[in-house]
Amino acid sequence: MDETARSYLIRHRAALERDIKTSYIIDHMINDEVLTLQEESRVKTETSQSKRAAVLLQILLEKDNYSYISFYNALVNEGYKDLAALLQDGIPVLSSSNENKTVNGITSYVKTVLCEGGVPQRPVVCVARPELVKRVQKKLYRLRNESGWVTIHGMAGCGKSVLAAEALRDHRLLEDCFPGGVHWVSVGKQDKAGLLLKLQNLCIRLDQDLQFSQRPPLNIEEAKDRLRLLIMRKYPRSLVVLDDIWDSWVLKAVDIQCRVLLTSRDKSVADAVSGNKHLVSVESGLPREKGLEVLSLFVNKKIKDLPSQANTIVKECKGSPLVVSLIGALLRDFPHRWEYYVRQLQNKQFKRIRKSSSYEFEALDEAMSISVEMLDEYLRNYYKDLSILVKDVKVPTEVLCSLWDMETEEVEDILQEFVNKSLLFCDRNGKSFLYYLHDLQLDFLTEKNREHLPEQWESY
Ligand SMILES: Nc1ncnc2c1ncn2[C@@H]1O[C@H](COP(=O)(O)OP(=O)(O)OP(=O)(O)O)[C@@H](O)[C@H]1O
Ligand SMILES: [Mg+2]
Repeated sequence: MDETARSYLIRHRAALERDIKTSYIIDHMINDEVLTLQEESRVKTETSQSKRAAVLLQILLEKDNYSYISFYNALVNEGYKDLAALLQDGIPVLSSSNENKTVNGITSYVKTVLCEGGVPQRPVVCVARPELVKRVQKKLYRLRNESGWVTIHGMAGCGKSVLAAEALRDHRLLEDCFPGGVHWVSVGKQDKAGLLLKLQNLCIRLDQDLQFSQRPPLNIEEAKDRLRLLIMRKYPRSLVVLDDIWDSWVLKAVDIQCRVLLTSRDKSVADAVSGNKHLVSVESGLPREKGLEVLSLFVNKKIKDLPSQANTIVKECKGSPLVVSLIGALLRDFPHRWEYYVRQLQNKQFKRIRKSSSYEFEALDEAMSISVEMLDEYLRNYYKDLSILVKDVKVPTEVLCSLWDMETEEVEDILQEFVNKSLLFCDRNGKSFLYYLHDLQLDFLTEKNREHLPEQWESY
C-alpha cells in the first residue's frame, strides 16, 4: 500500500475503530476479493465491535492499494460518509501509467515492497551494473514457480549486497515472482544465539499481529517451524534475502522450501541445504569508466574535469567498488588530497584508507582480513604463503606442491577452500588448474607478510 494511503488509515484509526461495524464492510471487501474468509473469521473471533474494527484495520494496513480503495468504497456504500471523507485524500491512483511512473526507475509499488521488506537503500553513490543485475534477475526468475536458492558470491567489497538490493528494484520481477513480498535479513557472522535473535526478529516482523504466536520462538528449531508456517500461510511466494552468510549451518535454519536470495564470500555455502540452487559469481570489477564515474559523483564534478590523479586512483583500486567509493567519500570530505590518496594506495597503506559508512568495515584491510581470520589456523598459514604469487601470473598446482612439499590432490583441496571463500581465483586449463590472486588481495597479503617474505622465498 502507498505510504500516503497508509498514513491516512493510521491517522484516522481511532475514529474508524470507534464507529464502523465490520460485518457489512467485510462483505464488500470479500466481494472485491481483497479479503479472505480466513481473515474474516479472524475479525469475527473478537468480542467487541471496536476490537473487530481494530483487527480489520490491522489486516488492511498490510494490504495493497486495491484494498484501500475497496475499504473506502465499502464505507461509502454502508453510509459512513464522514469516515469516507476522512480517507478520500489518501486514495491511491491505480492507473497503469501511475504504476509505471518511476523515480530513478523505481515505481511506488517497488518502493513500498522494498521498504516494508527492510531492503537497504542504494548507497549515496551508485553506478549501474546492468549486466550483473540482469544475471541475478534471470536466476531470480527461476524461483517464480518453485522454491530454491540464489547465491551471489564474490570477494570482499565486490558489491554483492548492493547488487542483491539493486536486482530487486524491478516492478515486473516483484509482481511476477514475489507477490508475497521481500524480507531482507542482514545476517553476518553469527553464533547460535546471534542467529536465534535474527530469526526471532524475522518472526516478529512477519507476525506483527501475533496471529501465529504471542511469544518469540525459544530456539532455532522452533524458529524454523514458525518461519515455515508463516511463509506458507501468510507470505506465500515471498523472497527471503539473507545478506552476508558465512556458515552453512545458518542456512539450515531456513531450509524450509522457501525462496531465498543470499550473498556470501563463500561459493559453497549453500551446498549443505536441499532444493534447487543457482549461483551468480561477481568476478569482474568496475571498468575504468565506472570507477571514474564513482569518483566524479562523489566530488560532484564532470569526469572530464577530474584531476589527472583520478585515473591513477581508479587504476590502483583495481575495479573494487568498495575501494573506489571509500576513496571517493574521503575526497568529498578532503578535496585536496588526491595526491595523498594516490600515494597511500601505491604504498598499500590500507589502514589509512578508512571512512565510516553504512558498509560494515571502516577500513579496507579490515574487510579483507576478516575473511582470512575466519579460516582454520592451518589453512590461514598456507594462505599467507600465497604472497609468493606474482602479479598477473597464473601459477599451476605444481608450483605450490613444491613449495609445500605435498601431493597434487592435497594442494588442490587446500586451494579449493580458498577459491570457495573468494580468497583465490582459479582458471581451468584442461585437466590442470591455474591459480591467481586479485591484485588487491596480493597487495594485502604482501603488506601483511612483509617481514616473513625473505624466509619464505628462501625455502621456496
Ligand atoms: N554499483 C555500485 N556503485 C557504487 N558503489 C558501489 C556499488 N556497489 C558497491 N559499491 C560500494 O562498495 C561498498 C561495498 O559494497 P557491498 O556492501 O555490496 O559489498 P559486498 O560484496 O557485499 O561486501 P562483503 O563481502 O563485505 O559483504 C558499498 O558500501 C558501496 O560503497
Ligand atoms: Mg555484503
